Amino acid sequence: MLSDLERILIPREQIIRRVKELACQIARTYEGQEDDGITIVTILSGSFIFLADLMRELPLKMKIGLIAVSSYRGATTTPCGARIERDLDVDVAGRHVLLVDDILDTGGTLRLVRQRLAACGARSIRTCVLLRKPTKAPPDVPAEFVGFDIADDFVVGYGLDYNDYYRNLPDIGVLRPECYKSAS
Ligand code: IMP
Ligand code: MG
Repeated sequence: MLSDLERILIPREQIIRRVKELACQIARTYEGQEDDGITIVTILSGSFIFLADLMRELPLKMKIGLIAVSSYRGATTTPCGARIERDLDVDVAGRHVLLVDDILDTGGTLRLVRQRLAACGARSIRTCVLLRKPTKAPPDVPAEFVGFDIADDFVVGYGLDYNDYYRNLPDIGVLRPECYKSAS
């Protein structure tokens, strides 16, 4: 599996450090929140490892909601439009929502989920992503909390996949282009 990587982009120690910093930033933002806390809505499947680490660093009262969106279908690295595969499983009406995703690429996924949350009556919506590709992220899809800005390479590991492989890599790495075909 490691031989499919061109290089390690972000080693695990650096991810862990940055997740703690993000949690401090988020905790400060929601400090003094009323008793019912916040709702974290996370987008499956890419963000589940990030969420598990981030939420355990957050000393906030919280509920967790899941939504499944697909933008990459199977063995391709090109987005083909975001689609809700499984709808939100919590009531966010009147709630302060922190939306958590693995990566902000073209923004199609987060735009769709933000619209859904607004339609469901969320009181506020802020977004936290581990990674962002700033050359592609559009201005109408804001992310208040960003772990790392990266170049426009296709990355895997720490929950991010190619054709559902590589999610269990503890580091984030750049996938060798020749693996785009053979991994499926
Ligand atoms: P967007 O809708 O183009 O912003 O893409 C967001 C989704 O596409 C993310 O939640 C990821 O699941 C996936 N994605 C985008 N870029 C990458 C990448 O470099 N590696 C793995 N998945 C990616
Ligand atoms: Mg995703």
